[in-house]
Parts: sequence; structure tokens; C-alpha cells
Amino acid sequence: MKQFALALAGFVTLALPSAAAAQAAPAVELDAPYVPTATPIVKSMLTLGGVGPNDIVYDLGSGDGRLPIAAVHEFGAKKGVGIDLDPVRVAEARANAVKAGVQDRVTFHQGDMFEFDFSEATVLPLYLLPEMMMRLRPKMLDMKPGTRIVAHDYALGDWEADKFETHDKSTLYFWVVPAKINGKWTWRMSGKDYSVDLAQTFQKVAGSLTAVDANTSLDLLKLSGDALTFEARLPGPGGTQTMAFEGKVIGDSIEATVVMAGRTSKVTAKRAP
Ligand SMILES: C[S@@+](CC[C@H](N)C(=O)[O-])C[C@H]1O[C@@H](n2cnc3c(N)ncnc32)[C@H](O)[C@@H]1O
Repeated sequence: MKQFALALAGFVTLALPSAAAAQAAPAVELDAPYVPTATPIVKSMLTLGGVGPNDIVYDLGSGDGRLPIAAVHEFGAKKGVGIDLDPVRVAEARANAVKAGVQDRVTFHQGDMFEFDFSEATVLPLYLLPEMMMRLRPKMLDMKPGTRIVAHDYALGDWEADKFETHDKSTLYFWVVPAKINGKWTWRMSGKDYSVDLAQTFQKVAGSLTAVDANTSLDLLKLSGDALTFEARLPGPGGTQTMAFEGKVIGDSIEATVVMAGRTSKVTAKRAP
């Protein structure tokens, strides 16, 4: 059984109405007990998240603050933010930020993560119980495409991880928030109209392309954050030719470079209303 699950059993015991337990129990009702991520795993999580100088790192349920503090102190992140429901943890985290000399770039809030706006984060390293991960999932999916999520031990249901790693008894999962690309997208290129129909399940996409002289499935479809690539085989004057599409999704537009028959075109695909 995992360490966190064992700790959860301890957490339930703490909730029993004995005098000693009442003293030890946090003053607020937590959705998960405090179980710190071990230092080597903190490093592995931030490495897997690719944390660097442009990042804003939020830990929801930040405990003693070790993840946001290490993100700024050791990985040079621009900003770290933590929130914890337990005021004792928040006080500890603030003191640890001062000790590490990063109090100007790391902030801790006391409150409920489910009421908290974390949309500015570029990386979310989390250590929470599975039901908490699932409760946060809709908000995660609404984050900026390209936001990275790293979870210690617990995954996100049927939103499969892009990568995972095992470290001794811990499993780390990594996701990139995908752009929302469901629908029909059209563009004009070299005097011809093209459209692609895309069906998305999280970061997985399937689709087909239609042109005046073609109707074909898309190959090598890949969506990572806002980056969409695919290929399509189309009839050409000298036989089949390959179209290679490489685009950046910006809301209802895709700014793309399309290479076909040795010719490169810059196009803007628009989502049909
Ligand atoms: C497993 S610990 C993780 C601590 C830290 N993130 C780490 O990895 O070392 C979970 C933390 O979530 C906090 N917590 C539980 N329910 C919460 C809630 N609804 N809002 C904010 N924090 C909460 C607990 O106080 C605890 O510090």
C-alpha cells in the first residue's frame, strides 16, 4: 500500500474524538492529510515538469511549501505560489520561504484549493488524493494550452498521462493541457478550399481532410498543448502527394505552415461556427 494511503488511514484515526487526537488534529477539516513529498521526489517532479525561468509554479495543498520553494530556489522559476487549508502549514511554508531567501518570489495563501484561482500557473506539481485530482480536472482542462501538470502517485482517470516515471515507491505522472480543437476547420491554399474534421478526447485526436478532389483520413496526428501536426495523402498530378501540416492553435484559429509538393504555404485555418 502506498505511503500516502497509509497516512490517510492515520488521518482518519486522528479524526477520532480522543483528547490527544483532538489536540493533534488540524483545526480545519482537510480533504487530504499532510504527507510531504520526499526531497528527491520534489526534484524529480520539477524536472519532469521542465520547470525553468519562465515558469509560474502553483502547488495546491502546498504543505510546508517545499515544491514552490524548490521551483524558485533550485530551478529558477519566476514565481511560486502555494495554498493550503491548514494555517499551521501555511505559517511553516512562509517561514521556509524566508529561510531559503525566496520570500519575494514565493507566496503562500491559506484557503481551500477548490475555491482558488490557479489559472495563471504554467506548471502544477501536485500530491493529492485521487478524488481531489478528479475534482480539479475540469479546471485543469480549462487552463492555458501547454500548462504542465505533474502528479505524485495519483493520476487523472481516463485522461491518460503523456509520460510517467517510477522512482522507488513513487509514480510520477505528466500531462500537457491540450488546446480545444474539436470541430471543423477550414482554410484556402493555392486557390483551393480545404477542411479538416477533428474529434478530440483529451490530447488524443482523430480526423479527416476534405478538398474538392479528396477525402482522406489524417495520419500522424499529434496535439501537444497548442501545437497540432498531421499529414494527409492527397491525389496530385504525378500520383499521391503528402501534405504536412504544422500549426499553433489560438482559440478558433490555427496559424499553420503547410508543406505540399515541395511548396511551403502559411495559412490560417478557422473553426467553423
Ligand atoms: C499530501 S499533502 C502534500 C503537501 C505538499 N504538496 C507536498 O507534496 O509535500 C496534501 C496537503 O493538502 C492540504 N489540503 C487538504 N485539503 C485541502 C484543501 N481543500 N485546500 C487546500 N489544501 C488542502 C493538506 O493540509 C496538506 O498539506
